[in-house]
Amino acid sequence: PTTYEVVARVLAERKHLAGPLLPVLHGVQEALGWVPSAAVQPIAEGLDLSRAEVHGVLSYYHHFRQEPARGPVLQVCRAEACRSMGGEELLAHARQHEAHRCTVEAVYCLGLCAQSPAVLLDDKLHARMTPERLAALVDKRCA
Ligand code: FES
Repeated sequence: PTTYEVVARVLAERKHLAGPLLPVLHGVQEALGWVPSAAVQPIAEGLDLSRAEVHGVLSYYHHFRQEPARGPVLQVCRAEACRSMGGEELLAHARQHEAHRCTVEAVYCLGLCAQSPAVLLDDKLHARMTPERLAALVDKRCA
């Protein structure tokens, strides 16, 4: 389906929700894997918002990808519990591997705070991550 068709479908499903913009953006990203700039205009029209409003929300939330992911997506948690357990070092380490075939993204809580630090690779959660295990995962999936 085209971006326009996807947006039309997601709008039909979600525009009646209270505060529909975030659910609509989530829906488009779920369908396409990212939110293309071509989606901004039809979303704005559909929700009776300005393009600037849609664009503002889209760029405010790191969760929304404004370009397609390259290869597997590795998300590293930067929220507090993971930070205190070495999450930042993991992120720095992962970013060194960005040149390979992985997309590395920071995220804010993966719901595994009790087993931090946590990462998500290809939609699979990994708890109590260490630099060594991360290196092995990245080598396997993103080399
Ligand atoms: Fe990292 Fe919650 S703070 S999973």
